Order: sequence, then structure tokens, then C-alpha cells
Amino acid sequence: MPERDAAELLRDAKRVVAFTGAGMSAESGVPTFRDALTGLWARFDPKTLATPAAFAADPALVWGWYEWRRAGVERVHPNAGHRAVASIESHVPNTVVITQNVDDLHERAGSGTPIHLHGSLFTPRCSSCSRPVSLSSLPPSPDAASRPEGERDGRIPPPQCAACGAPVRPGVVWFGEELSTDALSAATEAAFGCDLLFTVGTSGLVYPAAEIPYVAARSGATVVQINPEPTALDAVADVNLRGTAARILPELVARAWADR
Ligand code: APR
Repeated sequence: MPERDAAELLRDAKRVVAFTGAGMSAESGVPTFRDALTGLWARFDPKTLATPAAFAADPALVWGWYEWRRAGVERVHPNAGHRAVASIESHVPNTVVITQNVDDLHERAGSGTPIHLHGSLFTPRCSSCSRPVSLSSLPPSPDAASRPEGERDGRIPPPQCAACGAPVRPGVVWFGEELSTDALSAATEAAFGCDLLFTVGTSGLVYPAAEIPYVAARSGATVVQINPEPTALDAVADVNLRGTAARILPELVARAWADR
């Protein structure tokens, strides 16, 4: 089905879900999780850092890595794809954004309250009592590169929880951890109730998140995939648009509401 038809689906939709993954932020310059790590972190495998066991063994190493990632996200900007998703929300009020990304680029593009299935770099919490910790209450993290020679291994000791003194941890879902029940049920409910779901920039390999397009399809929604490459979700998509998020999404929005 050509893009024009996908634009017609969008114009007629009453309840839209935008389900996004790392490819959504690729054109903003956020490295995907699977990209080789650079600089200080080149010798690490992300899969060995993004685990509860890694944090227990070396909290400063894992906190330092997430601070480096957060600083990287703060340096970049939402792209035209993020802005197009926010525009869909303004045209179709019953739009829900479900992202696997831990960046805040949907929010910064104007999306109201995206569901962060895999958590966020911007919502740290206590590793013991789970109390949320506001980033603004934390001391500024020293930039690893500005630290004295010999201390430049990327380690930054995590702050301590004001309530119980335990180390603060990143608010992301690590390998081996359960997704937030609230986030997963809100996402499942939105997928179940939508009539059009866009799956954008995700390989569809990581479960249970990858179940979301199937939930929408089973409940009768049309599934449109936007991705330059074939993925595991090709089979569930009624429409496969091979292209990037920052190119295809704005085109769809422009065509859907061209005369308004
Ligand atoms: N526009 C759209 N899609 C793109 C773009 C782009 N500009 N660039 C790359 N892609 C696609 C790739 O073709 C790939 O299918 O984005 C997808 C990225 O896949 P993954 O790196 O596997 O990312 P994602 O699906 O979000 O991973 C899911 O796994 O790594 C963990 O927890 C992490 O949330 C993440 C989860």
C-alpha cells in the first residue's frame, strides 16, 4: 500500500498508537543500544552494563555509563519524526505514544505523556526503597573528561537516597527485570483499543514490548510499519513503508491533513 493510502488511514483514524524504538531517535544522533560504544566505553558490552548484577558489582561504573548516555541525549534534539508524532497527537486527540526509548525526545517534541516501556534516563530512583529521585535534586555529575588524569575511567559514584541512604539507580528497565506493570498494562490497553498503530524504528525483537503491534492487529487495528530495513514485525504489518522516521512521518502528516 503506498504512502498516500497510509496517509488516508491516518486522516480517518480515531485512536492512534505510535509504537517507537531506537530508530525513531537515530536521526537525532542517539546511538542505538546495539551500536558499538565509543570512547571510554568502547571496551564494554552494553548487555553486561545494563543488568542488576552489574550495578550491584560496580555501581559507579553503571551510574557513570548512564550519566554519559544522559549527557549524550541532552546534547541532541528531537527530529522531524518526533515532531510529526506530536502533530498526530494534536490532530487525533486519542493518540498514545508507546516508546521503548529511554531518551526524552518525544516529550521535548511536544508529546504529552509517552509510555516509557523500558523506563527513562531522566527518572532515577532509589535502588532499595524505590523512592523517585528528582534529577534537579542531584549534584551535577562531573563530566568524566574533565576529571583528573587517572580518574577518567567513566566511573561516577551514584548519589545516595535521601530517605534510606542506598545508592540511586537509573530509572531504566535492565535485562532480566520486569517491565513496569502500569506501563505495560497502559500500553496493552492502548494497543487493544486503537484503530491504527504505527510501529516506527524498532526491530521487534525484544519482548514483551514487541507484543504491542500484535495486540493491535488481533483487535482489528491496521498496523503500519516505518523502517528502512525489514524486521520481525513485517509479517504483522498491513503496510510496510521502507524509509526513515524523519522522512516518512512528516510526509504522512502533511498528506493526511493537507487541506486543513
Ligand atoms: N528510521 C526508522 N527506523 C530506523 C532508522 C530510522 N532513521 N534507523 C534505524 N532504524 C531501525 C533499524 O532498521 C532497526 O530495525 O530501527 C531499528 C532499531 O532496532 P533496535 O536497535 O533493535 O532497537 P529497538 O527495537 O528499539 O530495541 C528494543 O532492545 O536494546 C534493547 O532495551 C533496548 O529498548 C531497546 C530494545
